[in-house]
Amino acid sequence: MGNDKLTSGELQDYELDAEALSAERTLRPQYLAQYIGQDKIKEQLDIYIKAAKMREESLDHVLLFGPPGLGKTTMAFVIANELGVNIKQTSGPAIEKAGDLVAILNDLEAGDVLFIDEIHRLPMSVEEILYSAMEDFYIDIMIGGSDASRSVHLELPPFTLIGATTRAGMLSNPLRARFGINAHMAYYELSDLTEIVIRTADIFDVDITGDGAHEIARRSRGTPRIANRLLKRVRDFAQIKGTGIINDEITRKALLMLDVDASGLDYIDQKILKTMIEMYQGGPVGLGTLSVNISEERETLEDMYEPYLIQSGFLIRTRQGRCATRQAYEHFGYAYPHD
Ligand SMILES: Nc1ncnc2c1ncn2[C@@H]1O[C@H](COP(=O)(O)OP(=O)(O)OP(=O)(O)O)[C@@H](O)[C@H]1O
Ligand SMILES: [Mg+2]
Repeated sequence: MGNDKLTSGELQDYELDAEALSAERTLRPQYLAQYIGQDKIKEQLDIYIKAAKMREESLDHVLLFGPPGLGKTTMAFVIANELGVNIKQTSGPAIEKAGDLVAILNDLEAGDVLFIDEIHRLPMSVEEILYSAMEDFYIDIMIGGSDASRSVHLELPPFTLIGATTRAGMLSNPLRARFGINAHMAYYELSDLTEIVIRTADIFDVDITGDGAHEIARRSRGTPRIANRLLKRVRDFAQIKGTGIINDEITRKALLMLDVDASGLDYIDQKILKTMIEMYQGGPVGLGTLSVNISEERETLEDMYEPYLIQSGFLIRTRQGRCATRQAYEHFGYAYPHD
């Protein structure tokens, strides 16, 4: 503290971040045709985008929702590319005051995309400004001090707001109602994830067999970000412990080392289920209790872990709390006690 030099550790982190960032950019598909999976959403967007372009209008506002890492940010950029317009990116927590949003809106050109990530975390005072901006492309802002304040009417160019959220349920009704296009991103099919792994391996110039790609995809919890991350770790493992080629055998060995089990559950997933089974007789357990036991933020459990555990049948949500299913018991070799 008080010293503005970076330590070598920090510097390394920074370099890693920059590298990760540029890898992220090359990995992101640019157009709908390159975007793998989410076929229904792509088909609909393709029609809406073509129609808007034909009428020379801005595209209706789009709400993308779904668990982290499914490609919401990627899709926002793809939409802007397909429209052939500029995209400005910000996020809910980054816009603290109404003035911040006014400055961003004031800067838009006709047809531009404004992408707001984590839109459920916009402060209410900011959200209210969005209502008229989205609906009729104007804002009324108060300027000046308390006694000399007056309202100023500001016309905006037509623009497209793309909002992304991991929690559709946390969006207010007035805001949700102003999105003309709602896209619910689902976990990826195994075949699509396999294709994504093969595409990423190709970009990284890594040799991978079909079985290897399939094995990585199968353990990626339906999520492209996890698939790409596992691929990188398996690549390292194959390079040091194998011949450099990724096949299913080297994948299994690498994932064993990474604590990713046969169903693709990682250390935290396993800890959640085992805590429920071993300490709480399978539940019901409250999320707060689980979060304390596992030392993970409640929000992390709810956004990142629970949706996949529910979707894949390991956990259910009841009015009283979360319960481990028979499948969870059997997965860890325990007898199901509720027969
Ligand atoms: N359909 C896809 N085809 C190929 N790669 C994809 C696809 N979707 C996502 N990816 C890759 O997965 C990673 C995560 O995507 P992205 O950052 O868009 O997810 P996100 O939904 O915005 O996540 P978060 O909610 O955490 O912001 C990126 O590296 C991206 O390149
Ligand atoms: Mg994102």
